[in-house]
Amino acid sequence: MKAATYHQYGGPEVVSIAEMPRPVPGENEVLIKVHACTVSAGDWRLRSLKVPRGFGLAVRAFAGWSRPRQPVLGGDAAGVIVEKGAGVQGWDIGDAVVAYPSAKMGGHAEYLRMPAKGILAPKPEGLSFPEAAAIPFGGLTALEFLCDKGQLKAGEKVLIVGASGAVGSAAVQLARHFGAEVTGVCSAANAALVKDLGAAKVVDYNTQDIAELAERFDIILDTTETAPWQRVRHLLTPRGRLLVVSGGLGSMVRMLFNRRVIGGVSVGSRDGLERLMALVKDGVFFPLIDRGYPFAQVARAHAHVDTGRKTGAVVLALIQ
Ligand SMILES: NC(=O)c1ccc[n+]([C@@H]2O[C@H](COP(=O)([O-])OP(=O)(O)OC[C@H]3O[C@@H](n4cnc5c(N)ncnc54)[C@H](OP(=O)(O)O)[C@@H]3O)[C@@H](O)[C@H]2O)c1
Repeated sequence: MKAATYHQYGGPEVVSIAEMPRPVPGENEVLIKVHACTVSAGDWRLRSLKVPRGFGLAVRAFAGWSRPRQPVLGGDAAGVIVEKGAGVQGWDIGDAVVAYPSAKMGGHAEYLRMPAKGILAPKPEGLSFPEAAAIPFGGLTALEFLCDKGQLKAGEKVLIVGASGAVGSAAVQLARHFGAEVTGVCSAANAALVKDLGAAKVVDYNTQDIAELAERFDIILDTTETAPWQRVRHLLTPRGRLLVVSGGLGSMVRMLFNRRVIGGVSVGSRDGLERLMALVKDGVFFPLIDRGYPFAQVARAHAHVDTGRKTGAVVLALIQ
């Protein structure tokens, strides 16, 4: 099979298409023919080793000290089950699914092997494969941070910093759906988009320092490493929480003794993915897609993600 592989850390040019053996599903696994996947901020970080300050050694220990241990990136995929192990129940060959291998990666390939009980959900009819692939990375992260970690309640005021990115665009939609009043922070070019997603107000970070906002928030969700506690604490209500989706070691250390600073890595869950699919079916959540590339142009897709300015997800199409 064809897979996008990398064997050294670096820029988009370290990724290229190569031939690899087609995986064979184990007894409790399914094999998915991948139709679409995304190049996410997670792929960018694992490829480039550009990680928040203080995390370089930890990421090398996880991903491989001098070279990547897993040569195929891709934490999500949408496709069709083409083989299954003898012990698999509940999935059939021909089922269209969305999969989230997450940190195990492997989605940037023609075939992806997944545990049948892994983070896998039926693809809703009416949603294309590229649209389905664009859901898990941003959607699961936003859901986990807002609902599980942040315990968002209806009526709360939420500030989302990085509101036009994959995580932020999902967070705006979900927070609004769960009854919050949302203010999004993004550049002026994306203001109308973020309002369309459900933000009541939009702040342009180029002309307004968020630290000087007069409003107070119950939750600040930061995807950009620009809202550390010491900079935004005065914007929080007395029980307000700072959700650090992206932050340096300083924020992680602060979490140890300040329960209102909440961070960590989102691992995703099957429940969460099923919940997102139900919201898609109900018409209250839709993945934002910046643009798509054919699989052969995977390095170009990485280069666009590297700008840090994408709006939503960047999709790779394996089957046009
Ligand atoms: N903790 C976890 O488990 C977890 C999970 C997923 C992602 N992450 C991290 O979360 C971060 C965001 O991921 P993503 O996929 O959403 O990234 P993304 O899609 O690349 O989003 C970047 C967005 O940030 C906006 N932006 C840039 N600088 C900004 C600023 N100073 N203020 C406000 N907005 C700004 C850009 O909007 P404009 O173009 O309008 O400037 C762009 O839309 C990444 O660092 C990723 O590693 C963490």
